[in-house]
Amino acid sequence: MVATSATARDGWSSRTAFVLAAIGSAVGLGNLWRFPAEAGQNGGGAFVLFYIICVIFIGLPVLLSETLIGRHGQASAPESMRRMAAESGASARWDFLANIGVLSAFMIVSFYCVVGGWVVYYIYVFGVDLMASGLTGGAFEGRSREEIEAILPGLFGSAQLMLTGHIIFFVVTIFFVMRGVSAGIEWVATWLMPTFFVLLIGITLYGLTTGAGAEAFAYLFTFDFSKLTPQVMLAAVGQAFFSLSLGVAGMITYGSYASRDVNLGYTSGIIAGADTAVALISGLCVFPIVFAAMAAGVGDLSVEAGPGLMFASLPVGFQAMPFGSLIGLAFFIMVGFAALTSSVGLLEVPTSWVIERFGLSRAASTLIVGLSAGALGLLSALSFNELADVRPLGFIPIFAEANIFDALDGVTAKIFMPLGAILTCIFVGWVAEPRLVDAENGLSGTLNQVWRALVRYVCPVVLLVIMGFGLFG
Ligand code: PFF
Repeated sequence: MVATSATARDGWSSRTAFVLAAIGSAVGLGNLWRFPAEAGQNGGGAFVLFYIICVIFIGLPVLLSETLIGRHGQASAPESMRRMAAESGASARWDFLANIGVLSAFMIVSFYCVVGGWVVYYIYVFGVDLMASGLTGGAFEGRSREEIEAILPGLFGSAQLMLTGHIIFFVVTIFFVMRGVSAGIEWVATWLMPTFFVLLIGITLYGLTTGAGAEAFAYLFTFDFSKLTPQVMLAAVGQAFFSLSLGVAGMITYGSYASRDVNLGYTSGIIAGADTAVALISGLCVFPIVFAAMAAGVGDLSVEAGPGLMFASLPVGFQAMPFGSLIGLAFFIMVGFAALTSSVGLLEVPTSWVIERFGLSRAASTLIVGLSAGALGLLSALSFNELADVRPLGFIPIFAEANIFDALDGVTAKIFMPLGAILTCIFVGWVAEPRLVDAENGLSGTLNQVWRALVRYVCPVVLLVIMGFGLFG
């Protein structure tokens, strides 16, 4: 389909489709992998409580700001910004903000699919194990804890495995984005998200009843305020941002496909609520399994930030569990589904821009963007092995030690995402005509006033502080 002005623009087929796709974008590796690990690293309950506060007072207002810019513009993120700015009598150059978002989404999808590749590999490993260990057995029967934990370094050390996983995940992502908004991205969300929820609830209930449920509850919901340090707070806000897909124009793009009958205030609440619920349930899914293995005598397992919790400790946990092979396989398939509904959202941001900017067909645009981001991702995949010594940002002190993967992650999370969100707040709170904003946000009365105050004052100031800490702290 060639996107000329004469061609009707593709969009979500219904309100439910929009909500599911946006939840699909938000719920991903950030919830399942990063949230439990960040909670583990940052003192459990204190982090969790502060995280919830961040979602309500910062994440939610920014989410609504992004979706309303998109719905108003009904175009790619930069064009939507330009339209709202022009109608508010402001400079059309505000589109640079969305351009940063497009660039960030491009960079994030490149390394996000590398982690997606790890998930593909673990699906394979558990699939093979299920055949070897049988249906009822624990995972990796007869193998020592050390052998199970060695699967991850084995993967990282192999350029071939890393590249294969990455390429498989990227090709699937490209395939669905190429099919378009309603036939591709929406299809993925409407089929995979319900399946995801069933698997998540099922595995969590099984883990809570057969594993160390009480310990997991105590760990996640005991609020020890002495643990609430500035670093913990920073980690919580950063996590909330990543998890809600904010600051990279992702939600501007998804909002642009929403029709006028969607109440954006209400749906933003549902999206943020669902995303947070999944993060909390993920904690209750992962920790009972890991704690049960520790109680069964395998020794201390890492619960700290990084790949270790999901890709090393959890597989050890599956060994100690009845039906562990089967549950492990189901778990990684579930993670793969969540990652795919997010990676298509990320790839759609630059793709929709290329379609519009260069008037190319969706197929050609997806291929151009997807293959370039995929090529950048190859470098990230190789930064765990062949290119491990390359320090692309060695000249910037805080990124001096970062390899290619970490540099892309660091630059997007610490600079582009907060910067994008701060500017979005300034734009919606101060620059855009209030009449246009009020016509889109679906809020009225006190709630509207509270939201406006959060967007104008609280969010930019708090985010500026976070960015300052992240960069110079
Ligand atoms: N929110 C996704 C996650 O939690 O994994 C990551 C993400 C998706 C970030 C889409 C940004 C985005 F536009």
